[in-house]
Amino acid sequence: MSHSKHIETQAIHAGRINDEQFGSLATPLYQTSTFVFENAEQGARRFAGEEAGYIYSRLGNPTTRQLEQRVAAMEGMEDAAATATGMGAVSGALMTFLQAGDHLISSKAVYGCSFALMSHLLTKFGVEVTFVDMTEPENISAAIKPNTKMIFLETPINPNMVVLDLATIGNIAQQHKLISVVDNTFLTPVLQQPAKFGFDLIVHSATKYLNGHGDVVAGIICGNTEMINQIKMTVLKDIGATMSPHDAWLILRGIKTLPIRMERHCANAQKVAEFLEQHNKIANVYYPGLKSHSGYKFIGTQMQAAGGVIAFEIKGNIEDGAAFINRMQLFSIAVSLGDAESLIQHPASMTHSPYSPEERLEAGISDGLIRISVGLENADDLIDDLSQSLAQI
Ligand SMILES: Cc1ncc(COP(=O)(O)O)c(C=O)c1O
Repeated sequence: MSHSKHIETQAIHAGRINDEQFGSLATPLYQTSTFVFENAEQGARRFAGEEAGYIYSRLGNPTTRQLEQRVAAMEGMEDAAATATGMGAVSGALMTFLQAGDHLISSKAVYGCSFALMSHLLTKFGVEVTFVDMTEPENISAAIKPNTKMIFLETPINPNMVVLDLATIGNIAQQHKLISVVDNTFLTPVLQQPAKFGFDLIVHSATKYLNGHGDVVAGIICGNTEMINQIKMTVLKDIGATMSPHDAWLILRGIKTLPIRMERHCANAQKVAEFLEQHNKIANVYYPGLKSHSGYKFIGTQMQAAGGVIAFEIKGNIEDGAAFINRMQLFSIAVSLGDAESLIQHPASMTHSPYSPEERLEAGISDGLIRISVGLENADDLIDDLSQSLAQI
């Protein structure tokens, strides 16, 4: 499938394998751990890379392959590697290209477990990490050292919805020949394609919007063929964080509706954010679709729209916040995002608890911050739910 097709078409057709045997319209699910060789010589040729073909599902699977080709096409990248979870994607991208003695520069505020991976696990293996505030891109330039190898960021940032400037940061990475990695989970290729700004690797928690139905944990890494092969043949093969074919099959089903789901997530979130912004019990709303947000200027250039996640602070103390969350009826109290169901959570005690209180403060993640993932319900019903709980503060 050509990369030039529109994304709505790619979401349905890219990477599609024709089932020549039975003509199945839906993607066949190759729920198999291994693949039978015709003879010993064929097995040897496949292992030696002399003959194309599948060997064992940890190394590759036709259903999973279809998903990889679809997401790569949607991101405008050559190839992709599917992973067991989003963290499998983040760790696969980082661990393949970093070794002891290398220096990594990361945005200060990132998803809690990405922070834990970089600040606790990678440092154990001798990788040096500097966390910087990337809203001032000169902080990145100032942190670059002779052994700097890679930069890592996400935008909008989970959980505070700060938007980072991909064009400027991509330029800095290219000038200094750094491997640039961006986590595109929050916007998906439907709303933002970091490859256009020169980023080398794009990672996703496919658990979120790509699948969209809250029934899978999965991840994916997109990049050029060489880098993706390197990831597959080293970290993914030997650590084993590969995606199950059944999960790939579910995501292939979910991704067909990604463009129309994103449209509704954005429209609903815009209405909800505007409601929250004018409410007298709300102290701050962080949503790039609001004119008051520092990221609003990137809409229409870097990102097509603001996505479905909103962060806000209510007026009141931590207990008021917990009581507010507990009173919600339509919003489920759950971590994750990008599902049909609206979700609400408290980053400081949940998704971002791997940060110490001091580190959270440094990263601009306040203790009172509440994060919602606006689902696909009717926006007025969601607003009614928020309204009843806010009225009781
Ligand atoms: C931005 C971002 N990246 C990565 C992850 C990790 O993904 P997973 O939970 O699928 O491992 C998450 C999970 O919340 C996330 O929000």
